[in-house]
Amino acid sequence: METAIVMRNFKRVIAVSLILLKSLLPALSDNSHGAGYFPNLPVIDQDGNRYAFYDDLIKGKIVVVNFIYTHCPDLCPLTTARMSQLQQSLGDKLGKDVFFYSITVDPERDTPAELKKFAEAFGAKTGWRFLTGDPETIKKINHSLGDRSRNLSEHRNEIVIGNESTGVWARNSLMGDLASVEMDIRGMDPAWRPKSDTTANQDLVDKAYDSGGVPGKAMFAKLCAPCHAIGGGDRVGPDLAGVTKRRSREWLTEFIMFPDRMRQRKDPQTMALQDKYPGVLMPPLGLRPEDAADIIDYIERF
Ligand code: HEC
Repeated sequence: METAIVMRNFKRVIAVSLILLKSLLPALSDNSHGAGYFPNLPVIDQDGNRYAFYDDLIKGKIVVVNFIYTHCPDLCPLTTARMSQLQQSLGDKLGKDVFFYSITVDPERDTPAELKKFAEAFGAKTGWRFLTGDPETIKKINHSLGDRSRNLSEHRNEIVIGNESTGVWARNSLMGDLASVEMDIRGMDPAWRPKSDTTANQDLVDKAYDSGGVPGKAMFAKLCAPCHAIGGGDRVGPDLAGVTKRRSREWLTEFIMFPDRMRQRKDPQTMALQDKYPGVLMPPLGLRPEDAADIIDYIERF
């Protein structure tokens, strides 16, 4: 059992290295990933702190970077909520051993104040900086991290994980299994011993995948739980305990599938929710009617 886990980690290290070779090395051919590769240009965070990108934020650090914009109508709120789950599972390593950077791809509109509102909606702690700056600067920085999108709709939801000291860089997705992303992050530290952490990690994996045959459960865990608890209080969005009693089935189905449509036609209950949770809106997640039905049944069980 343990050997299998060690092997899997070993394979992951190799996979990480292969991704590195494929994706970043061409851009790095005549330099290392150190000084001179990442632009050392000025950026500003959600609290108005100014940094030199390479010297202050990258050099000697293990970092997790994603690309967002606060006006993003679809996936960024979900991926940011999943970053927030990672923040939770890394505990006090964040801000000490690991640093999160969410860099805007829309610096014209994303002022520090806008980013601050967004960061607060997701409960970002000190080790998680939301970065903006001069548009040309931000473009160069994002380009150095492999973001090649020419406009906002092209922007992707991947994350870049790296350790500048060892020169190991990898990509992953926030929409995959978060326990494996967490292991990739922890694995960036050469001193990390997977063995001591595998039990906890295996628990996470089991929890994420074990839907116990309950329809809607796995989908809820992946798409809704980053923002909602059912009992246990508000997170990014409202606690969903009892929501099937407060709202009609029709209303819930439409809201879960097309919250944007309901905002457009100014549905009164939807407008009231929006006023109550101004930092972030529930995104349309592309669910089919049968998915919505399973999820509502699942919420109703509580
Ligand atoms: C990125 C965060 C996020 C994700 C992901 C998300 N929601 Fe929401 N949800 C919100 C926010 C914020 C609100 C309230 C503000 C608004 O959108 O008007 C909300 C509101 C709701 C409401 C209305 C609650 C009430 O009290 O009337 C329901 C129901 C709901 N969400 C269900 C879901 C379901 C089911 C999923 C998964 C398929 C989901 N949400 C995914 C953030 C999210």
